[in-house]
Amino acid sequence: MTSSQPTPVVEAELAVRLSGAGLAFGDRTLWNDLDLDVAAGEFVAVLGPNGAGKTSLLKVLLGQLPLSSGSATIAGSPVRAGNAHVGYVPQQRTLDSGVPLRGRDLVGLGVDGHRWGTGLRHWKRRRAAVDDAIAQVGAERYAGAPVGDLSGGEQQRLRVAQALVGDPRVLLCDEPLLSLDLANQHLVSSLIDRRRRDHGTAVLFVTHEINPILPLVDRVLYLVDGQFRIGTPAEVMTSEVLSELYRTEVEVLEMRGRLVVVGTGDAIDALGSAGGLRPGEGVHHHHPEDDE
Ligand SMILES: Nc1ncnc2c1ncn2[C@@H]1O[C@H](COP(=O)(O)OP(=O)(O)O)[C@@H](O)[C@H]1O
Ligand SMILES: [Mg+2]
Repeated sequence: MTSSQPTPVVEAELAVRLSGAGLAFGDRTLWNDLDLDVAAGEFVAVLGPNGAGKTSLLKVLLGQLPLSSGSATIAGSPVRAGNAHVGYVPQQRTLDSGVPLRGRDLVGLGVDGHRWGTGLRHWKRRRAAVDDAIAQVGAERYAGAPVGDLSGGEQQRLRVAQALVGDPRVLLCDEPLLSLDLANQHLVSSLIDRRRRDHGTAVLFVTHEINPILPLVDRVLYLVDGQFRIGTPAEVMTSEVLSELYRTEVEVLEMRGRLVVVGTGDAIDALGSAGGLRPGEGVHHHHPEDDE
């Protein structure tokens, strides 16, 4: 999965397939003619500025939003709502203290009643699945605590556990590192990485900020204002490609394993260093006056 070229995908390993997929709201086309095959265990980063249609893409795969054209399948079947093969980490909100929910209750919300049934035997299986998911994210220590008392990083690990409890073949994550500090960004992204390596779960990871996950990413889908590029980070994260996508001059530099994007204006802010990120996070703005 770390090879520079995506390997051809055999049907049985195909986790996600988008064919000629397009999504429009009224006369506004978010994206069109999107072809993307994601293999089992593949880690795909979905990048692009606000409003590019990243969340909408996940909603299509969740069966919550119909395509305007083309088709989308999960593990060979057309997308549908409530598909147990799909785990979802929605964009994060911090839960206030006072929320009367323990960590393991939050994880249990990921259990699909239809699939698991009712009765004591099923209840035991559900409990075992919740325990297993909690163990996968290393949250045993605080799973019994009220979620409102937990840190952002702990809450996010439990949300990942909630998405894993149904043993998904596809994991959809919507900006799962947002508002986490660097240590927790690393923790959360590496446990998602371990999941796809150990279980062959395909990962679509929406993010503003590729640096924390750069070493994990097999391919990037970069969406900008109706245009997109798909390829390895080395193929997509170049001055040439991003300048074309943003239709303005963008320069991408590599500094100590991080990508630094040089430029000005909204297009660059949309790459992730605008407000909301702490110093030291985000794709760095680089200003020429910083030199010397
Ligand atoms: N159900 C909807 N009806 C109309 N417009 C929508 C709907 N959902 C999203 N949009 C619009 O589509 C655009 C893309 O939204 P979104 O997928 O959330 O972008 P991103 O996640 O990349 O920031 C936004 O302009 C948003 O307002
Ligand atoms: Mg979004």
